[in-house]
Amino acid sequence: MLNWSDFQVLCENELRLCRVGEGQTVVVLSQGNHRLDYADAFVSAARQLGAESYNIRLGDTSSVLNGPAVSQVGINPLRGNQGAIDALKHADMVVDLVFLLWSKEQHEIQDAGARILTVIEEIALLKQMFPTQAQRERCEVSAELLRKARSMRITSRAGTDITYELGKYGVVDEYGFNDKPGRWDAWPAGFVFTAGAENGINGRVVIDRGDIFAMPFRGYVQTPVELTVEHGRVVDIGGGVDADLMRDYLEKIGDPRGYACSHIGWGLNENVRWSSMASTLRSYGQEARAFYGNVMFAMGPNLELGGMNDTAAHIDIPMRNCSVFLDGAPILIDGVFQVPELQLPKTD
Ligand SMILES: [Fe+2]
Repeated sequence: MLNWSDFQVLCENELRLCRVGEGQTVVVLSQGNHRLDYADAFVSAARQLGAESYNIRLGDTSSVLNGPAVSQVGINPLRGNQGAIDALKHADMVVDLVFLLWSKEQHEIQDAGARILTVIEEIALLKQMFPTQAQRERCEVSAELLRKARSMRITSRAGTDITYELGKYGVVDEYGFNDKPGRWDAWPAGFVFTAGAENGINGRVVIDRGDIFAMPFRGYVQTPVELTVEHGRVVDIGGGVDADLMRDYLEKIGDPRGYACSHIGWGLNENVRWSSMASTLRSYGQEARAFYGNVMFAMGPNLELGGMNDTAAHIDIPMRNCSVFLDGAPILIDGVFQVPELQLPKTD
């Protein structure tokens, strides 16, 4: 565990990557008593770099994230709080300690030109997964490949064979820091994703033993799950107890739009491994989403990518040993990147 001053230096290094400096205003958004230590560290770090900075601490704690389970998305205490939203819209940068992702409020703030950095993970992961320029380059190369492609086919020896029609929606390169107005990112990260056209996603996804429920559950899949996807929707969830968990969660949310395919992409952070989540107790699963060479399949909203689906249901499943083809060209084979720019430098 880092001591306080080390954490403050870590935040300062992060804000330096975000090119925070004189003439900028950095607003840190928190709620209740949660992550007040983070809020103090960021305000102090921003000031250290010459920026103006203050903390908006919302009183409403009804949707506070107080543990590793993010079971619904898009619901946050900014809703109806226009005064706070307006203050955030006037910022150059917002440090979001609340988790605004997949919400209309986040879009309103970004549309006003503020860049947003979400920070909810435990300090040990912030350090272990600290972003690098090399990761940014791999994410940007990946995003460019996704932007140019019109189809993505994903296969695996476990039985996955699904095709996404691409080109309708945006691409997000999430590399862990943010120096562009109006952009969103999260620290830590290191992965990319896009979404398929609603009617253009068909096939099956076999979630194998050892693949990861990063959200809304937290754990390694023990019994294979076979999803049948037709026209962008999961129409059948077959398998054992892990399939039961997925079915039960989606039935509890009770929103048919929760069965839609959401983001799809791959992980690029070499500083975490497939096994990392087994040794983190309270993470929100970023180490699982980001491990190098995973393919993350997700169900739920596509709002972040330009779609209309804003369901609160959300399932993230990073998978091992998958192959990805963009317009037929191999990007990843059995979990190994084929594109030189995505490969790690060789060490002796
Ligand atoms: Fe997700």
